[in-house]
Amino acid sequence: MHAENHGTLSAYDLRTEYRTTPIGIGETAPRFSWRLSSETRGARQTGYRITVHVVSFLSDSSTSLVWDSGWQLGDDNLVVYSGSPLVSTSRYLWYLELRDEHDDEFASGDSWFEAGLLSPTDYQAVWIQRDTRAWSNPVEPPQDYSPSAATRRIPPSRYFRGEFTTFTKTVTRARIYATAHGLYELYLNGGRVGDHELAPGWTDYNDRVLYQSFDVTDRLRLGKNAVGIILSEGWWSGYIGSDRKKQGYHYGEVTEAWAQLMVEYSDGSRQTFGTDGSWLDANGPVVYSDLFMGEYVDARRDLGDWTSPDFDASGWIHALGRPGDLETLTAMIDEPIRAIEKLPVVSVNRFEDAWILDFGQNLAGRVRFVFRNEEVGTKIRVRYGEVLQESGALYTENLRTSEATDYYITAGGPLEIFEPKFTSHGFRYAEIVGVTTAPDLASATAVALRNDIPWTGTLETSDATINQLERNIRWGQRSNFQAVPIDCPQRDERLGWMADAQVFFPTSAYNADVASFFTRWLGDVRYAQSAEGSFSDVAPKITILTDGAPAWGDAGVIIPWELYKMYGDARVLEVSYDSMRRWIDFLELNNPDLIWSRRYGNHYGDWLQIDALTPRDVLATAYFAHSTELVSEAARALGKELEAEHYSELAGRIKAAFRNHFVDPEGRITGDTQTDYLMALKFRLLPESETATLAKHLIRTIEEHGGRLTTGFVGVALLCPVLCDIGRPDLAFTLLQREDYPSWIYSIRQGATTIWERWDAFTQEHGFQSARMNSFNHYALGSIGEWLYRYVAGIDQTVASTAFRELSIAPNVGGTLTSVTAGYETPNGLVKSSWQREGSRFTLAVEVPPGSTARVTIPSDIREKVFEGGAEIGKQAGLSSIKVGEANVSLTVASGRYSFESVLPGTVG
Ligand code: BGC
Repeated sequence: MHAENHGTLSAYDLRTEYRTTPIGIGETAPRFSWRLSSETRGARQTGYRITVHVVSFLSDSSTSLVWDSGWQLGDDNLVVYSGSPLVSTSRYLWYLELRDEHDDEFASGDSWFEAGLLSPTDYQAVWIQRDTRAWSNPVEPPQDYSPSAATRRIPPSRYFRGEFTTFTKTVTRARIYATAHGLYELYLNGGRVGDHELAPGWTDYNDRVLYQSFDVTDRLRLGKNAVGIILSEGWWSGYIGSDRKKQGYHYGEVTEAWAQLMVEYSDGSRQTFGTDGSWLDANGPVVYSDLFMGEYVDARRDLGDWTSPDFDASGWIHALGRPGDLETLTAMIDEPIRAIEKLPVVSVNRFEDAWILDFGQNLAGRVRFVFRNEEVGTKIRVRYGEVLQESGALYTENLRTSEATDYYITAGGPLEIFEPKFTSHGFRYAEIVGVTTAPDLASATAVALRNDIPWTGTLETSDATINQLERNIRWGQRSNFQAVPIDCPQRDERLGWMADAQVFFPTSAYNADVASFFTRWLGDVRYAQSAEGSFSDVAPKITILTDGAPAWGDAGVIIPWELYKMYGDARVLEVSYDSMRRWIDFLELNNPDLIWSRRYGNHYGDWLQIDALTPRDVLATAYFAHSTELVSEAARALGKELEAEHYSELAGRIKAAFRNHFVDPEGRITGDTQTDYLMALKFRLLPESETATLAKHLIRTIEEHGGRLTTGFVGVALLCPVLCDIGRPDLAFTLLQREDYPSWIYSIRQGATTIWERWDAFTQEHGFQSARMNSFNHYALGSIGEWLYRYVAGIDQTVASTAFRELSIAPNVGGTLTSVTAGYETPNGLVKSSWQREGSRFTLAVEVPPGSTARVTIPSDIREKVFEGGAEIGKQAGLSSIKVGEANVSLTVASGRYSFESVLPGTVG
């Protein structure tokens, strides 16, 4: 059927809705995507064809065609399914054929996905909960220690058990769809099902509760089978947020579980079992568990093999089935939280009656302990902290009301393993009290919990400190991409703060494929929008119920736009567009003079700036203009020309108002802060003719502060990029490599392994910052990661490009760096940029994926001194539009690998 594949074009990462062979997809028009690679320069996809077959699980395993896209010309690689309607739980196999630059057509791989529960009638199970009427004591706090007021109110975790009997026929397929109002772990016939942690994750449960899908075909037995569910509070009814008046019960007071098992036999018949009033309920070893407070496990209360079919459950009490409330059930969208990184203990120290274990890395998750030969009933207490006090004691004041304490009561015996199930702590150190044997390095492992988002970026430089910074940024992302993008993982907060997410989004998207993670979270962002059109400060919206603040609420516009730009995902833009537009309309309605000074909620300004005060109205109005411009661009991208015009004209008027109100005749902006000028330059608030004046003021505000930055969360993301844009990369590198306070490296010199919330979380002179707000693991100031990728490695795209189709590879050479090697998996394929300088000699190796082009900018002022593959660029084929600038030479290349060499400007005598 196919011609030979003469070229070397091949597809990899065939995915459905950004996931590899997912089961339980909720989209009725899922999208197929793939990346490309090739050994040949100029390779590209010129067409594709997708055929989709539904798979029958009858004994013949036949398939039948449900969609044939036909041959489509072009390089599209994010394709919407538009065949016959998908059928719930069915499996679909899809084949990809490609046409390359020689017009050869060839098969290029296959993949599959499975539909989830697509119709309301698919939901047959009911919610189950503890039947309070059947229990004499509704809440049984542990009696063997003095529980804090906070933990006393946490009810014991539930142990639910259901049994079912399969037909005596061959099972071809079995799936469990499960979720909870709370957090759950699922078991079948004596073993855990899946590796999801803290499932079902956090969404605004008033709107959506995500169910997870598991393949359990190989786990069923002939005849009797048993399913177990352990259920705890989590975000549903546990502590979350910092509002003392309401830290818990945000969604409900009683936890509930829901699970449905579908069994398919070789003759096509099916059986469905689910949670209902026939299930049984018991107390078990998890006495209580809470995300903030920690987990209490009494191993003496172990229930034995309670999820095996042969278990005798007499004495268990019937659960209460509760029909209804199934409309919120929605298929999981992205990859779940998993226990991914596991870190060993690096040192053990004694402090008073405690042992302090150091894992060498601040992270979010918990510790898995091994206890040996403890006596039955030994009480072991574990507390967690990010840093130590000078005395060597654990520092926990900055956790505020978050108790972050786990308890384990031993059952006794040669070996016991304790790892809490339903809690997560932000820590580097664990303090353990009550063990009789001194812990050794092998006695514990730190287990990091995070959404399992595939990494896409790598970046390494010649400077070990910058590499540490890059690692700290990544650990900030790991620790805080837990269910939603949260501010910090340790104290009593852990909320989806929107400015934090907005400034860090580009960095996170270089590091990892965050498209589906943010797509899911944006659902909560939209749901949190008020009827009037105001976005909120946090999503899911709890405790902070005011109008969204400037730069916080604006995330509702900025993130969908940037997601579209980076991934070429038009669906997320389409879905978000109306909410984006309504935000601008809300601001305009309430600020008819176009100075945003009303309805700005808790206005946080340039949060945590130092020695500078960016006036609120200036920051707000700058963001108003910026967001309005993005809405205009979004409208244009979606083909809404009239609306694009409307918002572009409005943005123009906001900019004019900004200039009239805030800019004096010398071009100074009210407040005269670095952030003022950074916003004005980045958001192009003033006419281009005034750029040089703005640049001059920006430099002055840096010099006036002794060459130091004064920016907070908002300004910092713009700092180094704007300095490069105005032709002062030297200054950006100086700021990057400064070691004194305030700087990124300052924290590293103090031993930081993550990004701090504050520039001065700890200083030699003053010790710890106020414990009222001092997280050692906040990603916001890590927004410099974007600059490292875009400007230092130089991996970027042109202004008009989406999904990195038109790359711009323009590294900045500066500071003491002598080499940078970076790679990034764009939606199209892998791009690499790797440069080196040796004296005046500069080399740059570039790899451009098939179908992308790259505008490469090489530092050099003499065209004749620029070589590719050893030959002068003018004489090399495949390099076009060569242009000589003041200090660089730029040219365009098609896909492939290139190695350039030049002489750095100003270095030849
Ligand atoms: C959070 C921030 C957040 C801020 C709002 C803090 O408590 O930790 O990261 O953006 O409040 O100003």
